[in-house]
Amino acid sequence: MADKHTTLTASEAETYYNRFGKKQDSQGFYEDPALNDVIVHASFQDAESVFEFGCGTGKFASRLLTDHLSASATYLGCDVSSVMVGLATQRLKKYSKRAKVLQTDGTVHFPLSDHSTDRVISSYVLDLLSDEDIRTFFAEAYRILIPGGKVCLASLTKGNTLLSRIVSSLWMAVFRIRPSFVGGCRPILLDEYVNRDSWKLEHRKILTPFGVPSEALVLIAKDRPNKANSAEARSSCG
Ligand SMILES: C[S@@+](CC[C@H](N)C(=O)[O-])C[C@H]1O[C@@H](n2cnc3c(N)ncnc32)[C@H](O)[C@@H]1O
Repeated sequence: MADKHTTLTASEAETYYNRFGKKQDSQGFYEDPALNDVIVHASFQDAESVFEFGCGTGKFASRLLTDHLSASATYLGCDVSSVMVGLATQRLKKYSKRAKVLQTDGTVHFPLSDHSTDRVISSYVLDLLSDEDIRTFFAEAYRILIPGGKVCLASLTKGNTLLSRIVSSLWMAVFRIRPSFVGGCRPILLDEYVNRDSWKLEHRKILTPFGVPSEALVLIAKDRPNKANSAEARSSCG
């Protein structure tokens, strides 16, 4: 089961990432291999609309818009940090007709209607949310995705090799002392939060560049039960 621990509040995360700002881009040495792996399995070329939760500086969005999404595809990103929203907006300026970035209050509620998007992406964000918020994230992703749409995730995870096990244990130890020493992030197993009644596994891989373990996960939203049952299904899904 998921570890019990204290995660940063949304307002603590906002303060931290307002200060961290552009430095987030220096984390590519361990993030990029997992993001590359997600890209291989997310079929972004077929997506018409993408929603990103916790877009940071807009680095991943810029890469998707430049190299992987069709010229008509739209992007909506959100972040709790005003500094990150400013950086991402600036970075995505040349796509401003079809790419928007919003600041949120940190609640895990997506500003989109039901079944309105075909990709939900989030990289290195779920690992700083509480267990309850991670479950809400999956319920919200399921709500806004069309059936057959994909949730595409990368996150810090627990090691599966000797070196990466040592790294993730040390990381967790530091997190327990003070979450802000590691940006509020801790190693988690995304797979543990997935309700297989709602999601079909498309791809899962653990990557350990420089001994830092990441989980790349792509899930497909299963078709809904009939309309009469959908309210009940929604309350228990995700
Ligand atoms: C570790 S950074 C990752 C940023 C980016 N996705 C990347 O991979 O470079 C975490 C990001 O999530 C944002 N964040 C944290 N908690 C959030 C919340 N509750 N709602 C929206 N964004 C949040 C932070 O402001 C920060 O930009």
